[in-house]
Amino acid sequence: MKIALANDHGGIDLKPAVRDVLEARGYEICDFGTFTTDSCDYPVMAQQAADAVASGKCALGILICGTGVGISLAANKVKGIRCVCCSEPYSAAMSRRHNNANMLAIGARVLGSEAAKLIVETWLDNEFEGERHQRRVDLITAIENGEKLY
Ligand code: RB5
Repeated sequence: MKIALANDHGGIDLKPAVRDVLEARGYEICDFGTFTTDSCDYPVMAQQAADAVASGKCALGILICGTGVGISLAANKVKGIRCVCCSEPYSAAMSRRHNNANMLAIGARVLGSEAAKLIVETWLDNEFEGERHQRRVDLITAIENGEKLY
């Protein structure tokens, strides 16, 4: 399975820990950078990783910035992306089980590496449950497509 990975300068210190989790599971990593600590603009990396997930080139994606917030907001502007910004494992699990999140964003200035690894592992370990949750995810997609739900 291919996983898209992207970060800005604020997320770079946490990337090795995330890569360790992905490599230990045998995933192929498509790393869209950035690869230096030079200040950069997270929407650029977010869009590259999100496009890879939206197109099906990568099954899932993981994003890292200082907080996880900006990079998740950017990724969620790409059609077909459901990116969740998580700071604890419960929401990470439920974002897969109920929301079929296809991208996870975490913050390097929020989480230590062990907490981040646990969140990433939990997110990867959980699957979408479908059924009534599929209807709600379909409604999210309807909003994305410009439909009015009310
Ligand atoms: C960069 O300083 C920082 O703003 C970025 O990494 C992220 O936290 C934005 O949401």
